[in-house]
Amino acid sequence: MYMAKPVIVVHGGAWGIPDEQVDENIKGVEKAVREGWKILKTGGSALDAVVAAVNSMEDNPIFDAGIGSVLTTDGTVEMDALIMDGNTLNAGAVAGLRDVRYPIKLARHVMEDTPHVLMIGDGANRLADEFKVERITQDELVTEDARKGLKEWLKDQKFGETFGHETVGAVALDADGNIATATSTGGVTGKRVGRVGDVPIIGSGGYADNRVGAVSTTGHGESILKVNLSKLVLNYMETGMSVQIATEKALGYMAVRVNGNGGLIAIDKDGNIGHGFTTKRMVWASIKDDDLESGINA
Ligand code: GLY
Repeated sequence: MYMAKPVIVVHGGAWGIPDEQVDENIKGVEKAVREGWKILKTGGSALDAVVAAVNSMEDNPIFDAGIGSVLTTDGTVEMDALIMDGNTLNAGAVAGLRDVRYPIKLARHVMEDTPHVLMIGDGANRLADEFKVERITQDELVTEDARKGLKEWLKDQKFGETFGHETVGAVALDADGNIATATSTGGVTGKRVGRVGDVPIIGSGGYADNRVGAVSTTGHGESILKVNLSKLVLNYMETGMSVQIATEKALGYMAVRVNGNGGLIAIDKDGNIGHGFTTKRMVWASIKDDDLESGINA
């Protein structure tokens, strides 16, 4: 029977992470990657591992997902998430959630318990009721830091990398050779109510295919959407490029073609790791062979 060497990589967002938040960001991704690794190490699935890692970051107010999500111009939180199973190419996604504590869990219900791929609005809420997923109020989701970010953004209303935290995500390979990706976000500070970014769109916020690898992205959603950043990385890999070269080439293409900044984590089907970013910083962590690595600077 084929046994792969498990690997997990997580990111906590690519943006202009300020110096005073560096330690907390690194601590946050290291905690998340350990949560996922516990599962992989004991023979658990890549899907369970990426959900556990993302749940840890959805609960951590330093990150833009779940608690700590950034705010719309109305001062509200609207969250998006995507999960994909590289074995079957099944996927589940949700958009515009306002009161679900772990958006990635609801995305998994869409994938596993409905014939659909992407659910929004009232239908997503009904699914949350049906599967009794944990709810949370807007008051509990909104942090002081998110309020401050919106206040700053309102001064010049420019989408850059200064105000605002970014998406979280995880990719993993399990001992059975299965690959998965999960990405969760509150989006970008100052987005209009109802705006949906890259995260819940397959091929943009993430993609997983056992035959090639998996990707989870972060950064300016409209740019990522225009180049289908996740699928672009995998397409490059299919031409024979290494996962790291494919990562850099795809981010370079996004910068040149649509003037977009962001970052991503990736693995190939053999568990080789790629990561890169065109923002000031991106916080990430990985575990392979029980060795934890993490970073935040280029
Ligand atoms: N990358 C997150 C967003 O733009 O919504």
